[in-house]
Amino acid sequence: MLAIIGGSGLSRLPGLDITHRQVMRTPYGEPSCPLSFGQIAGRQVIFLARHGYGHSLAPHEINYRANIWALAEIGVSGILAVGSVGGIHPELTTGTLAVPDQILDYTHSRAATFFEGPDQPVVHVDFSYPYDATLRCRLLEAAATLAVPVHDGGCYAATQGPRLETAAEIRRLGQDGADMVGMTGMPEAALAREKHLPYATLAVVANRAAGLNGAGVEIDFQANQAAFLQGLDQARRILVACCSPI
Ligand code: HPA
Repeated sequence: MLAIIGGSGLSRLPGLDITHRQVMRTPYGEPSCPLSFGQIAGRQVIFLARHGYGHSLAPHEINYRANIWALAEIGVSGILAVGSVGGIHPELTTGTLAVPDQILDYTHSRAATFFEGPDQPVVHVDFSYPYDATLRCRLLEAAATLAVPVHDGGCYAATQGPRLETAAEIRRLGQDGADMVGMTGMPEAALAREKHLPYATLAVVANRAAGLNGAGVEIDFQANQAAFLQGLDQARRILVACCSPI
């Protein structure tokens, strides 16, 4: 059974017939919200709204450990994570989609591992290739079936937020090799790896990243809204196709 973690703009998943919700307790506290159990085209799926149903949790306030622990405890077979990003690569304009294949982590002060404390072993999980190849393919194939263009690959830079970046920070991220920037991709992906859960991200570009709209031009989410909503709608269709029997 696949789990879907929905990000900004996707705290609900039309197409998912919810059968029940379950409040989970974990050794790390409570997940962002109760888990929604349901079906997409007759297939069991679990949905979790990363920011809570009312979008009340900022990226640095999300209990990533509780979220991933809860999904592992339920026994999900993999996680499809949706996240909004700022586009850095020239092709990643507002409303476009990407399935990244690498991560740069600039987050800090977040609980980022299950392996800490006196009762836990010291474990260094391999994270050379942070996203699961099979789940990435599944997203890309679903997109191809729907004829929705998706950028295959790219490096996701995870920033701490909640503020957006400066133009200089985005310039540096670009020089570091980042193609897109978001605030929630880490430690979520690493925690999934620690629990041996296959994990892939479908990124929806909400805006061009800071400074990339021309010198002196600020980010205007209002102006980006319509294209972003269109991108989210396509992301939803891809998720539904991913979960549907072939
Ligand atoms: N930066 C970081 N996170 C984001 C952005 C951005 O420009 N847009 C959407 N999430």
